[in-house]
Amino acid sequence: MPERTAHAGLRAIRGRLLTFVRAPAGAGDAHSYRYIDDGIMLVKDGRIELVGPASDLAARLPAGTPVEHHIGALIMPGFIDTHIHYPQTQVIASYGAQLLEWLEKYTFVEEQKFAEPAHAARNAEFFLDELARNGTTTACAYCTAHPASADALFAAAHKRNVGMIAGNAVMNRLGPPGLLAPAATAMPDSRDLIRRWHGTGRQRYAVTPRFAITSTAEQLAELGALLNEFPGVLMQTHLDENLNEIATIKRLFPDDASYTAVYARFGLLGPRSLMGHCIHLADSEVALLRDTRSVAVFCPTSNLFIGSGLFDYEQLKAAGVRIALATDVGGGTSYSMLRTAAEAYKVMQLQGQNLPALVAFDLMTRGNAAALGLEGEIGSIAPGAFADLVVLDARATPAMAHRMEVARDLEDELFVLMIMGDDRAVRQTYVAGRPAL
Ligand code: GUN
Ligand code: ZN
Repeated sequence: MPERTAHAGLRAIRGRLLTFVRAPAGAGDAHSYRYIDDGIMLVKDGRIELVGPASDLAARLPAGTPVEHHIGALIMPGFIDTHIHYPQTQVIASYGAQLLEWLEKYTFVEEQKFAEPAHAARNAEFFLDELARNGTTTACAYCTAHPASADALFAAAHKRNVGMIAGNAVMNRLGPPGLLAPAATAMPDSRDLIRRWHGTGRQRYAVTPRFAITSTAEQLAELGALLNEFPGVLMQTHLDENLNEIATIKRLFPDDASYTAVYARFGLLGPRSLMGHCIHLADSEVALLRDTRSVAVFCPTSNLFIGSGLFDYEQLKAAGVRIALATDVGGGTSYSMLRTAAEAYKVMQLQGQNLPALVAFDLMTRGNAAALGLEGEIGSIAPGAFADLVVLDARATPAMAHRMEVARDLEDELFVLMIMGDDRAVRQTYVAGRPAL
């Protein structure tokens, strides 16, 4: 075979390529991204091999390389959702309650159904389809307490070669018996899931105490030890989302200085710890998050929908706390990271803050990858990274096309996408170089 004939795992993707190289300092920071107006990336065995202008690369592609040309569309790294609940696809849009009542009335009811493997398997497929339709190529997913639910998600994701970070949401009190894992099985089950799935293909495990209300001190200590036992594993939980939640924590852990201090006591904070919500933080808690390099996960559609409060992005950023962005479906109301960015923008506006489009798109891609410790592997269009991509059309609807007639520049186009876009703006999603739609 001549050297320049395409190998079976080779393909090329052509269009307008946009990727971030560092966190933008603000609007107009042209050094934070790389944009190629007519670019090509060569993908080999699921990873990006070469990227450059079509004028340079087109003639150098091995003969026979299939080229998918997305004329006019913007090709970006696939979105990364750093906090979502896969057992809540039928909890989304549940009316009229704030956090603790919402959990009891809707969430715990639906989650108990995941004891049934067939239900878990069907929902895992739906969930992964929906992520793909929205251009999300990696998610940090809560499963239920039942190990079968995590198994179903990991198995479905592994089959698609899509990288999930997931864990069974462990609970041992203050929930329905159908969600509480007996002490004898909770840790062996989690250990077994880690051994079978963490590092299997693209899958990763996250130790997942649901929140400190539903785990005793003993269980939190065991989960901290588990995290310590498997150093590459991540940790995800909820923190300071709702005022009644915080009052309950004070009653349950009267000797701890704060909610964050509870997690700190059990070794659950650190650079691979994703703390969902972080709305009502005392200054000492902000300092704990900063000092441990933990990540505060901003979930705007959820915070508005459940009425939890406004995430103070600028305060946390100024304090040096790492920040990620997420949907939190089904407390969150959309699978779309574009709609999530739109709500983040509004949450910040209400506090006299701004979210430039560059910052939002960096967060959804490279920034969230960095929050997960996965920069370079996902979230970038660069040699060596997985070819996990979203192809976006800023003219996807008549109203968007009409607005785009007066778009001033790339940043303006990105702003239209984030404020008006949703799944309709996703023309294609690629997972490891293969179309997912
Ligand atoms: N706190 C504990 N569990 C949950 C959950 O499922 N969703 C949200 N938004 N907050 C929680
Ligand atoms: Zn959540």
